[in-house]
Amino acid sequence: MAKRNAVFVCQSCGAVYNRWKGKCEACGGWNTVVEEVSEAAPMAGPGPRLARAGKGRVFALEGLTGDAKEPPRTPARIGELDRVTGGGFVRGSVILIGGDPGIGKSTLLMQASAALARAGERVCYISGEEAVGQVRLRAERLGLADSPVELAAQTNVEDIVATLSQGRQPALAVIDSIQTMWTETVESAPGTVTQVRASAQALIRFAKTTGTAVILVGHVTKDGQIAGPRVVEHMVDAVVSFEGDSAHHFRILRANKNRFGPTDEIGVFEMTGKGLAEVVNPSALFLEGRDMSAPGTAVFAGMEGTRPLLVEVQALVAPTSLGTPRRAVVGWDPARLSMVVAVLEAHGGLKLGMHDIYLNIAGGLKIAEPAADLAAAAALVSSLSGAPLPADAVYFGEIALSGGVRPVSQAPARMKEAAKLGFSSAVAPSARREGIETPPLEAREIGHIGDLVATIAARSPRRREPIS
Ligand code: TYD
Ligand code: MG
Repeated sequence: MAKRNAVFVCQSCGAVYNRWKGKCEACGGWNTVVEEVSEAAPMAGPGPRLARAGKGRVFALEGLTGDAKEPPRTPARIGELDRVTGGGFVRGSVILIGGDPGIGKSTLLMQASAALARAGERVCYISGEEAVGQVRLRAERLGLADSPVELAAQTNVEDIVATLSQGRQPALAVIDSIQTMWTETVESAPGTVTQVRASAQALIRFAKTTGTAVILVGHVTKDGQIAGPRVVEHMVDAVVSFEGDSAHHFRILRANKNRFGPTDEIGVFEMTGKGLAEVVNPSALFLEGRDMSAPGTAVFAGMEGTRPLLVEVQALVAPTSLGTPRRAVVGWDPARLSMVVAVLEAHGGLKLGMHDIYLNIAGGLKIAEPAADLAAAAALVSSLSGAPLPADAVYFGEIALSGGVRPVSQAPARMKEAAKLGFSSAVAPSARREGIETPPLEAREIGHIGDLVATIAARSPRRREPIS
């Protein structure tokens, strides 16, 4: 009989201990270490390997030149999804898709499954969370009930692998979700790290040996981690997150890791009464309902991967009634805001110490690019001075601690998108002109943050008073 070992496994990061600990030393989580019983120690010691020492088989090493084929892909025929995966599901690859409950993961995967099945591929959808009837109801609501997707409500990995291995090889298998799966090879309860890891391993092995692309759905915890099995993230080929907030109807699909494609592309969808619709022109969506007659609003010409994206940056600067003024940011890095505020004070002559500052990226989008600095600064100065910014201008540029405005990448693409959406000028750092075709709109060059403050203040109704 196999030796039984009690091991203590962190449910958050998967670190293994031989005794209980209140705090995981690997990830710092409190009360995350739980006892699990397994047949064999989860990490095989050096024993068996040492026994083989000196007896390994010799294999041929190869050079870097030689056959390197693009992996064969099956496109999902949903443009925004294919953009994120890099052109379709790679045969034999495993994708982990994470997202808050109710965000639309099952809906997206049902739509993708149906599209593939209608194109003649074999697609199996295994639900561990919902009964077959519930999945059918969703398919009906999506108008996809007639597509030949093969359904099952199962949670045992051995049974699933055995079933999928029968008959024609599926092009795609969806496992909704990995946390509900369990395998007989380990004894821990379903949902524990040991179970999730072992189940994922079995499904990954199935994908690699048969060439079926497998999608694993993973739950996400409050802090945005794919719950429990972060270990699974290392095992799969791609980790994709489905984001959005309940107050808005659009959803963003983003690849955080992708062995077969880009990681900075996003796919934009809108949740409608009949499922997820692709948003082909996201800039128009993010600028919807914008009020440019009010101060404190600037349009940022950003980039998400290779796609330009215009978003509205809103700022509110108001005298504080508190001892310590408030700084609140939604959709942007708070440290970045502090930096921009400090530069505006040091090099722009603004006094913001007695003001509350709020900054919001409209539409619930999250921006990580430093190129948003200039748009944020423009919105802040506009709110403080009471001067609305010109409605036809977009802003981009990175602000340095010296007050200088530095050029950012892909300026032509940003300007082109702005021109396409009807903007006629771009306030941006001076870029090197060589190699860049004439900009499609008027480029108003800004070299220093002081220039920005002066231009906006000149439009202020309170022009005669100093800005403070
Ligand atoms: P679901 O795909 O079940 O989310 P997840 O699998 O990520 O938990 O989507 C659930 C939400 O989407 C639910 O609140 C209802 C909404 N929804 C629509 O608005 N329209 C639709 O056509 C469908 C199928 C769902
Ligand atoms: Mg679901």
